Amino acid sequence: MCWDELVTMNEPAPQTIIEKTFTFEDDEDTHTLIVSIPEVLDPQYGMHVWPCAVVLSQYVWIRREKTQHKTILELGAGVSLPGVVAAKCGAHVILSDSAELPLCLKNCRRSCDVNNLPSTPVIGLTWGQVSPELISLPPVDIILGSDVFYEPEDFEDVLVTICFLVRKNPCAQFWTTYQERSADWSIDALLHKWNLKCIHVPLETFDANKNHLAGSTLPGDHTVQMMIITAKEML
Ligand SMILES: C[S@@+](CC[C@H](N)C(=O)[O-])C[C@H]1O[C@@H](n2cnc3c(N)ncnc32)[C@H](O)[C@@H]1O
Repeated sequence: MCWDELVTMNEPAPQTIIEKTFTFEDDEDTHTLIVSIPEVLDPQYGMHVWPCAVVLSQYVWIRREKTQHKTILELGAGVSLPGVVAAKCGAHVILSDSAELPLCLKNCRRSCDVNNLPSTPVIGLTWGQVSPELISLPPVDIILGSDVFYEPEDFEDVLVTICFLVRKNPCAQFWTTYQERSADWSIDALLHKWNLKCIHVPLETFDANKNHLAGSTLPGDHTVQMMIITAKEML
């Protein structure tokens, strides 16, 4: 086998990328935001937009006046729809995904590039790890996490990261959406353990109780819930 053949064999297979467009509108149709998200045709978790991301993005869009000029960190961002919406609405956004998943970090970067957000930082943050990247974050106002409670063995790691962030930023709120996949899963005991509390935000309060959202059929029949988690003393 010659050298050229060896190099070709070691190259990653080319990825097929498609772009999905999401259109956020307000009731009076006076404001519209169009965001394009490149997705990789790959079944891995962080490669495409999840139904939860459309619901969380709708919340960010409806609350855009509250997020303007705020510093927002997205955890487990994958292709980063909520973070991109927040950045397009005027927030200072930092996108993150697992430090061990460079392809997911590449997806965060690609979503920024496609939406003309070249200066949005993308960092590796693995849930549950108090890494130099986590420690050196600037003050954070809002944390976003769409479909980060999907693997019960990771629930505590997500909340450890949130606990660390709200201890440093006592007024910070964690805005998160999750998909109901099992009636047996609950984070209540973990919230108590890590001194956190949550309120549920009914989808109808931000116009998200629909199968179609932002021009996308992704929410479909999935049962998606939205909650806000804060330090126990804050709510
Ligand atoms: C179900 S996907 C959701 C992706 C995106 N937030 C969305 O809703 O479209 C879960 C995301 O969490 C990321 N992730 C998985 N384990 C992680 C970990 N231990 N630390 C940080 N991110 C992680 C994955 O790479 C993936 O992007």
